[in-house]
Amino acid sequence: MTNTNPLSSIRARWDPHQYQRFSDERSRPFFDLVGRVPDDDVRTVADLGCGPGNLTSTLLDRWPEARVVGVDNSPEMLASATRLAPPPHLVFTLGDIATWRSVQPFDRIVSNAALQWVADHPHLIPHLVSQLAPRGVLAVQMPNNFSAPTHTCLEALLEQEPWVSILGPRQPQYFVQTPTWYADTLHDLGCTVDLWETIYYHVLTGPNAVLEWVKGTALRPTLSRLNAEQQREFQTVYGDKLRAAYPEGPHGTLFPFRRLFFVARRRA
Ligand SMILES: C[S@@+](CC[C@H](N)C(=O)[O-])C[C@H]1O[C@@H](n2cnc3c(N)ncnc32)[C@H](O)[C@@H]1O
Repeated sequence: MTNTNPLSSIRARWDPHQYQRFSDERSRPFFDLVGRVPDDDVRTVADLGCGPGNLTSTLLDRWPEARVVGVDNSPEMLASATRLAPPPHLVFTLGDIATWRSVQPFDRIVSNAALQWVADHPHLIPHLVSQLAPRGVLAVQMPNNFSAPTHTCLEALLEQEPWVSILGPRQPQYFVQTPTWYADTLHDLGCTVDLWETIYYHVLTGPNAVLEWVKGTALRPTLSRLNAEQQREFQTVYGDKLRAAYPEGPHGTLFPFRRLFFVARRRA
């Protein structure tokens, strides 16, 4: 299977330090997701898009007898993950989720905040289910906040000059389908499905907090295509829009964030 993400040819580096500036807020959906994953017969676990690996390692606390594999296509993230000095049962490997194929089927496949970056879910989801052992579980969390000001302000800016001339036409960046689509698709693939959405109301602290948040994730593909001076200018204009959309209050900046979860169990 090929990754048809048009941005995949552009090297948008991940910065583990920037990403983990809000690690409490970013890790909570992971634990909410894993909390719904059943415990029986867990010998092999994959964490797809494992990032800096701090959350992957908690899977061993949950299933100490299991062999856990973290997969990511960012050398920066993997370097951070391997610095954790993983125990023998935990390995991190460089790989693309779209083409990832295991020799042995997995009992649990977890993916937190990663599949939104991977194109073509109508091919991806059946592929991932096919990597599960009988009674195996695919547990996924993805942002589903693409109509929030973080995204609409970015889209609007990218349609204006000088950015449209510098960056060219806007390319699709996220590939999340509707909740109904995941429910129907997973049922059709022979799974039982537990699917839900949560809106977290994070209270972020520090100046330009929402800009700092998106610099760790959604803004990377845009910034990676600008020179240093353009990056500064873009962040000034976009940061002003974000401060207007998410005003800082006496206790911090309230940042609503909708996320989609599913836990799908393959029938025997
Ligand atoms: C937002 S981070 C999430 C990291 C981690 N799962 C967590 O919850 O902290 C998204 C991760 O997905 C990885 N990723 C994105 N597309 C990928 C792909 N096609 N193959 C492998 N990893 C990918 C990125 O490199 C990044 O580390």
